[in-house]
Amino acid sequence: MDSPHPKTQPVIRPMTEADVPRLAEIRPGFVSTTVLDVERLGGGIEAGWRLVERQLERPFDKGAGYDFDPAEQRNILGRLRRGDGLHLVVEQAGRLVGVLDVVPEEWNNTAWVWNLMLDHDVRRQGLGRELFTRAVDWARRQGYRALIFETQSNNVPACRFYAVMGCELEGIRTAYYTNDDLARREVALFWIYRLA
Ligand SMILES: CC(C)(COP(=O)(O)OP(=O)(O)OC[C@H]1O[C@@H](n2cnc3c(N)ncnc32)[C@H](O)[C@@H]1OP(=O)(O)O)[C@@H](O)C(=O)NCCC(=O)NCCS
Repeated sequence: MDSPHPKTQPVIRPMTEADVPRLAEIRPGFVSTTVLDVERLGGGIEAGWRLVERQLERPFDKGAGYDFDPAEQRNILGRLRRGDGLHLVVEQAGRLVGVLDVVPEEWNNTAWVWNLMLDHDVRRQGLGRELFTRAVDWARRQGYRALIFETQSNNVPACRFYAVMGCELEGIRTAYYTNDDLARREVALFWIYRLA
């Protein structure tokens, strides 16, 4: 028998300025049971780094750390008003449940993905793949040579997603957020999806 309250299908559409305050409806947090520890190899001008996935004693919970607070909303509004990027939202049953926020970096002919985020209620249904594909199609049409994504070494679910989408891990910055990123086990990882 059909459910009396069938779930409305999520719809992907362009973001409008009126959507920006509503981005706070999205719950983009995540939980990770493992972390990618960044180990330094060697030193001096031949220094290197490698990532080692380790089980955490207690899962890492991002909590509200990715939420779209007023400061983040202002940043997104600024990027939307530039008019040269790709800004999409995912809406389901009158609530925003996802966002894609990409802008060009003209100086090196790439596009930078600021946000690719889905509410935890709508994950693992292919929406992340769909937003990723839209970003790739758009960037290819614009003639950019690559899309660049950044995530953290404690966001292992997102790292797996980017790897499955065909991105390569392209760089690590060990003091991108604070001087203690290594000790905090939250290191910036940069992923590239080459288009040319
Ligand atoms: C990362 C994110 C965008 C993925 O979106 P999604 O809609 O759940 O991903 P999809 O359903 O399209 O998954 C595509 C494939 O990616 C991989 N994948 C996605 N989530 C995964 C996870 N948690 N663990 C392992 N693999 C994962 C799988 O191979 C998946 O295919 P499958 O479901 O057939 O196995 C989503 O989990 C999210 O919004 N996370 C919180 C915010 C975030 O971390 N954003 C990105 C980094 S800043």
